[in-house]
Amino acid sequence: MVLDHAPIETPPRAPSPIHRFGTLAVHVGSEHDPVSGAVIEPISLSTTFAQSAVGQPIGAHEYVRSSNPNRWNFERCIASLERAKYALAFSSGSATTATILQSLAAGSHVVSVSDVYGGTHRYFTKVASAHGVRVAFTPSIELDIEGLITPETKLIWIETPSNPTLSLVDIRAVADIAHRSGIMVVVDNTFLSPYIQNPLEHGADIVVHSVTKYINGHSDVLMGVAAFNSDALHERLRFLQNAIGAVPSPFDCWLAHRGVKTLHLRAREASKNAQMVTNALEESPHVLAVNYPGSASHRQRKIALKQHRDGLGGGMLSFRIKGGKEAAEKFCQATQIFTLAESLGGVESLVEVPASMTHMGIPKDQREAAGVFEDLVRISCGIEDGTDLVADVRQALEKVVVGPKITNGFANGSRHT
Ligand SMILES: Cc1ncc(COP(=O)(O)O)c(C=O)c1O
Repeated sequence: MVLDHAPIETPPRAPSPIHRFGTLAVHVGSEHDPVSGAVIEPISLSTTFAQSAVGQPIGAHEYVRSSNPNRWNFERCIASLERAKYALAFSSGSATTATILQSLAAGSHVVSVSDVYGGTHRYFTKVASAHGVRVAFTPSIELDIEGLITPETKLIWIETPSNPTLSLVDIRAVADIAHRSGIMVVVDNTFLSPYIQNPLEHGADIVVHSVTKYINGHSDVLMGVAAFNSDALHERLRFLQNAIGAVPSPFDCWLAHRGVKTLHLRAREASKNAQMVTNALEESPHVLAVNYPGSASHRQRKIALKQHRDGLGGGMLSFRIKGGKEAAEKFCQATQIFTLAESLGGVESLVEVPASMTHMGIPKDQREAAGVFEDLVRISCGIEDGTDLVADVRQALEKVVVGPKITNGFANGSRHT
């Protein structure tokens, strides 16, 4: 099944919810069990569901890949949080991306921001091309989009904030141009979570998440989700969800659903901590530049104020350290609370060097054109005490510049992992 080539209409918005984010996060999809009265939903491990007559299932489900109670409840919750009519869950953020790309006909053309997650870049350049979908990248999509659109362009792919330079895209500006030519806009909202940004409200047609990050929030589930309003998209993507079968297990859906119930608390705390760490980095003589959309100094702060809840910046930031690649790597080894690891969005703070880790697969010239230099350090602020995080960043900066020689990745043997 492929997406229509006819221009799409901007789909109708889902009805406004009566309740606010925290109430929706805790209650949507979490009704009491009608049989036992259990307040927390049971994990439904059954792969198949009884039928009363041929083709007449007793309940809403037939076979676990097509649908199951835990996935269904999680999807309903995410749809409500993204102000969408529908959500579909997948086995990873990457499987979500792949399923959307596979919905395009061979010969389709996609325009993407250059500064995307490394795995998304890998899929666009090494997998999508194998089934005849070409992707053009641009570092400044609001300026370039009109020139890059061809008659074959079917999709615009945006990450805002981008990974790892935290650049922002004005979703409404891009969507207005794309919709004039019947092109769909997809926004990867992983970095902010639905608490801070709802891209469908700004004109996007599909919002995607690596649930692995903020939505689950506890670094123990790999999962993805897409949310949207169009009935036609729902039919196509649901068909592919079942046909490709890249679906999450009931247990993972249950865990991620539990995780999302505290998303609003975690997102606020992580944003507060990221702002504190940004302030400390901006004051430091050892830092060249800081990228944080919550900061007044961010060059696109106006977009953050327009698109983000209360202008919040989220828990992610990156900075360029004085001393190049060596200093960046040493910094990541010298922190004691921040763990040197890939990924983001968990309750624990992480630090990494994108050029040598998450974005290593992108050719150096393209990577640097997008601002991903070897001295760039990416930080995911967790929900520890902000004062402790600031102290940790300060001591690590001092160590990198004047500190002891680190030989085995463990400064003073006192790393907490
Ligand atoms: C912004 C972004 N999108 C998508 C993905 C892919 O998600 P997953 O690892 O769940 O496949 C990631 C993973 O880091 C990401 O950071």
